[in-house]
Amino acid sequence: MLKKQAKCTICKTKGLKNKAIVYLPQHRLALCKEHYISWFEKRVQKTIDEFKMFSKNEKILVAVSGGKDSLALWNVLTKLGYKVDGFYINLGIGEYSQDSKEKAVNFARKINRPLHILDLSTEIATIPKLKEISNRPACSACGTVKRYYMNKFAKDNSYEVIATGHNLDDEVAVLFGNTLRWDIDYLKRQYPVLKEEEGFIKKVKPLCKITEKETAIYSFLSDIDYIEYECPFAEGASSIEYKEFLAKLEEKHPGTKLQFYTNFLKRMYPILNEEKKEDKKLIKCKICGEPSTNEICSVCRLKQRVGV
Ligand code: AMP
Ligand code: FES
Ligand code: ZN
Ligand code: ZN
Repeated sequence: MLKKQAKCTICKTKGLKNKAIVYLPQHRLALCKEHYISWFEKRVQKTIDEFKMFSKNEKILVAVSGGKDSLALWNVLTKLGYKVDGFYINLGIGEYSQDSKEKAVNFARKINRPLHILDLSTEIATIPKLKEISNRPACSACGTVKRYYMNKFAKDNSYEVIATGHNLDDEVAVLFGNTLRWDIDYLKRQYPVLKEEEGFIKKVKPLCKITEKETAIYSFLSDIDYIEYECPFAEGASSIEYKEFLAKLEEKHPGTKLQFYTNFLKRMYPILNEEKKEDKKLIKCKICGEPSTNEICSVCRLKQRVGV
């Protein structure tokens, strides 16, 4: 909790007495608007440096959903001096897609950067249609097509890196789920940088050490207009339950989430990857040529079911 009269920790070191407007319990920092924004941006830069995500010479594509995380990420990276264009996939989920697209388009205009838009309905089919045809939960088909088109679009347009807005809460919820199931294959790949390999472009998550709340505050203070409601298919997802549970834990013990995640990266991830066991070999999809573990990739199989 922020005490009413609290002063900004950084301002105090400079002999100033500006009022703090944000308190970050796990970092024990009370900050004014200016110092909160610079704290946030420095934290992103530190994460990029720590994991050697990319350099100022690389062409970066940020995947934007119209939500706070990806728009905040685009904002920070641009302010830090990186060359970043946006990529929005129109999933065709009624009002949700219309509203989120509008936010992404308006934001691109505001920062004066190109935004590429890909329409799923012309590439394959909308998410509601894919859900119906494939008999799979919407989010699972959605994840598959998003990953596929992000990678393909970036490659076809000579981008070198794809950055997504996954935050600490997302990463911790996934880590928690993977640990509950001891899903070693997923745990082995849960790292904020996935190197370029066999047809896959490098993928990075520069907000992996920043909580959803911290991004919300940054977006608010930076006047970023984002879509405030979730995709209608997200309701009831187990990751939401994990997030609620972890939030309760965090409230009682500030810093738990960050520790769980960073200690996994430091202590567990290297052990899991020690043994150089051959992962499932990647081959080229017979139809589209994209990397796949099967002769025909999952998107081409979906396309066959849709009949396109
Ligand atoms: P989500 O899986 O919805 O939590 O989103 C995780 C990240 O994927 C976001 O922060 C974005 O970087 C990216 N993303 C999600 N939806 C889209 C979309 N429709 N178009 C482009 N990127 C997206
Ligand atoms: Fe993909 Fe909700 S955003 S199903
Ligand atoms: Zn200050
Ligand atoms: Zn294919």
